[in-house]
Amino acid sequence: MSKLTVRQARQESAIGQSATLQGWVRTRRDSKGGFSFIELNDGSCLANIQVVADADLPNYEAEIKHLTAGCSITVHGDVKESGGRGQATELQATELIVHGWADPDAYPLQKKRHSLEKLREWAHLRPRTNTIGAVMRVRNQVCRSIHDFFQDEGFLYVHTPVITASDCEGAGEMFRVTTIDPANPPRDEQGAVDYAQDFFDRPSYLTVSGQLEGEIYATALGKIYTFGPTFRAENSNTSRHLAEFWMVEPEAAFYELEDNMDLAERFLKRIVGDVLANCDEDMQFFHQRIDDTVLAAMQAVAEQPFERLSYTDAIKLLEESGEKFEFPIAWGADLQAEHERYLTEKKIKAPVILHDYPRSIKPFYMRVNDDDKTVRAMDVLVPRVGEIIGGSQREERLDVLEGRMAEQGLDPQDYWWYLDLRRFGTVPHAGFGLGLERMVQFVTGMANIRDVIPFPRTPGNAEF
Ligand code: 4AD
Ligand code: MG
Repeated sequence: MSKLTVRQARQESAIGQSATLQGWVRTRRDSKGGFSFIELNDGSCLANIQVVADADLPNYEAEIKHLTAGCSITVHGDVKESGGRGQATELQATELIVHGWADPDAYPLQKKRHSLEKLREWAHLRPRTNTIGAVMRVRNQVCRSIHDFFQDEGFLYVHTPVITASDCEGAGEMFRVTTIDPANPPRDEQGAVDYAQDFFDRPSYLTVSGQLEGEIYATALGKIYTFGPTFRAENSNTSRHLAEFWMVEPEAAFYELEDNMDLAERFLKRIVGDVLANCDEDMQFFHQRIDDTVLAAMQAVAEQPFERLSYTDAIKLLEESGEKFEFPIAWGADLQAEHERYLTEKKIKAPVILHDYPRSIKPFYMRVNDDDKTVRAMDVLVPRVGEIIGGSQREERLDVLEGRMAEQGLDPQDYWWYLDLRRFGTVPHAGFGLGLERMVQFVTGMANIRDVIPFPRTPGNAEF
């Protein structure tokens, strides 16, 4: 007898097979005719398979009749055509083995629907719900598409370090990595904690971005991408921020900003196209139960060219909008979520790429334009989520880069290796970072970023 997943056993082509299915009971219903229907789920798809267990099974009275939500079982049986609505097949049990019981008085996931907030308290059980199961299958597809896309485009997957001594974004929102005993730290002559005596002989942190190391490999191997966890110690309790999130960062030598924008657009179109093609059942669920605008928003990404708009033109649109923003907007100010959402949701009603931002609000590594006021930055904004990608063409001119570092109070000594890339065979290059969780939010319609990562890390939350 071969093992089948619920997904496989639900196919019409499985009819006539003898099979073993294994998973968790969602519900049990007893029929007067002396048999029970068990809805079995194994996570392979959203839907359950209906198991029909007759009263003449040897453990029917002792066990099967007592199955409740959450019990784990193995069923050997025959896949048959089903008379039930919404299912092509069902499984007629010939043997049913109970692995684990789930006391219905104690098991939280009973028929009652819980709020997503409540489910966060049960991070260990919530993957057994329809919503989180669907999110994780879509998240898996997005990750697969990320690799497929960059591999197909000839990008090399490079692993950049999680522990680093440099602050890529210059925002100072980093988690320190140390083995120093806080109760008894080594001191320098001034009495400050002496990180020269720490594990790495210098202050070290969890990375906020793999970009700087990505640039090293791009300026040797051409086109690379890095994809891994990144960490930010910003104390922002919003529906779009995590302290630990996953970022995919391509970096390409001989790329200018236009190439970078084209790449970002092809990239998002590919992910969305793959999700639409491969996650139909889960996407129908999100459309019906979470947000009925997700499918249309994804179609728009797949089909429409992305609008491209300079920061300066965007400011004009915002000033002329007549909207009452909480944060007033003027040239030189950073865009807030409300401004981004106005542009992409109300004004343009589609994804938009903003480019050429003021130099004063962007990190040191972005290439300065000839106007001396703006840098070759780009942000991709999408409806509902706002900024989903941030990137730029990098400053490849040594003198300009040193000037920018001085402007931002960075010590060139700390970045000597980064400056070496400009000293030895410098080339124009560009890249960007996509926040994986924001992408999953965009495609699923999930309102809170805490619900699209298995174990969200936010201020005050790291239990499991
Ligand atoms: O715009 P960011 O800060 O760009 C960088 O870090 C660049 N070094 C990337 C590069 O050019 N290689 O971050 C990139 C993206 C954002 O657009 C957003 O989608 C996501 O990362 N992101 C976050 N996602 C969740 N929680 C947070 N706290 C995030 N901060 C950024
Ligand atoms: Mg950004």
